[in-house]
Amino acid sequence: MACSVSSSAIPSMVMVGLSVLSFAVASAGNFNQDFDITWGDGRAKILNNGELLTLNLDKSSGSGFQSRNEYLFGKIDMQLKLVPGNSAGTVTAYYLSSKGSTWDEIDFEFLGNLSGDPYILHTNVFSQGKGNREQQFYLWFDPTADFHTYSILWNPQRIVFSVDGTPIREFKNSESSGVPFPKSQPMRIYSSLWNADDWATRGGLVKTDWTQAPFTASYRNFNADACVWSNGASSCNSNSPSSTSSNGAWLSEELDTTSQERLKWFQKNYMIYNYCSDTKRFPQGLPVECSSTS
Ligand SMILES: *[C@@H]1O[C@H](CO)[C@@H](O)[C@H](O)[C@H]1NC(C)=O
Repeated sequence: MACSVSSSAIPSMVMVGLSVLSFAVASAGNFNQDFDITWGDGRAKILNNGELLTLNLDKSSGSGFQSRNEYLFGKIDMQLKLVPGNSAGTVTAYYLSSKGSTWDEIDFEFLGNLSGDPYILHTNVFSQGKGNREQQFYLWFDPTADFHTYSILWNPQRIVFSVDGTPIREFKNSESSGVPFPKSQPMRIYSSLWNADDWATRGGLVKTDWTQAPFTASYRNFNADACVWSNGASSCNSNSPSSTSSNGAWLSEELDTTSQERLKWFQKNYMIYNYCSDTKRFPQGLPVECSSTS
């Protein structure tokens, strides 16, 4: 298995030395090959020969899917188009997670809203079963009008959430200050569309309007430049030529000055909640990583 994988069907020849062609690889991502529908009793559908996946939610059930591969580090892109119209009460979750009671998790969650009111993009990072690291944002576009790319860069030094190439959150490895960092438990990609009108909408004030059901979220252009974990080994540690050629930059990628400025611009203008400034919530002092995490 190549280190840079979006689909096992891509000949490794194509990958060799061509990590810059991640866009070309992305277009080849195939939901039939890379994902399994895990619940929803027919409400999740893979369409157009694997190029499109849709999740549906109605009054009786939501739906979801997960990646076949487990990854230990990666740069993972997915394009999502969220539930349009009156989506209040619906939540589209898109995340990486490991298993067990001390799991690691990297979350994007999209909280729907009344027509014309903005979605909230909710993010969180769990390490060894501990989360409580929420940051929430508005977006600078209508995420229901078209597909947009939501990316997770996860390497041993940092986790960076990006939207259409703009970094929106960085969670740095603060192990030197005693904060566990996700780096030894392989994770799968998961996504689901479900009803959360008991909390997502201003504490349950607005209820899901089931006359608008079914609600639909759509996915396309999955791409993972990632280390695939299988049988206790990482594809990035193998000596095959394809793993050394394409794992290049992302494994040690950091935010350059321009990216840091964009991150600051985004957070200054679009951040609506940051656990790192919630002194009421942490009367004993803010979490340790807050001194190094933007
Ligand atoms: C919905 O829109 C309202 C009004 O703009 C806003 O206050 C709220 O944060 C939005 N999101 C959710 C999930 O309620």
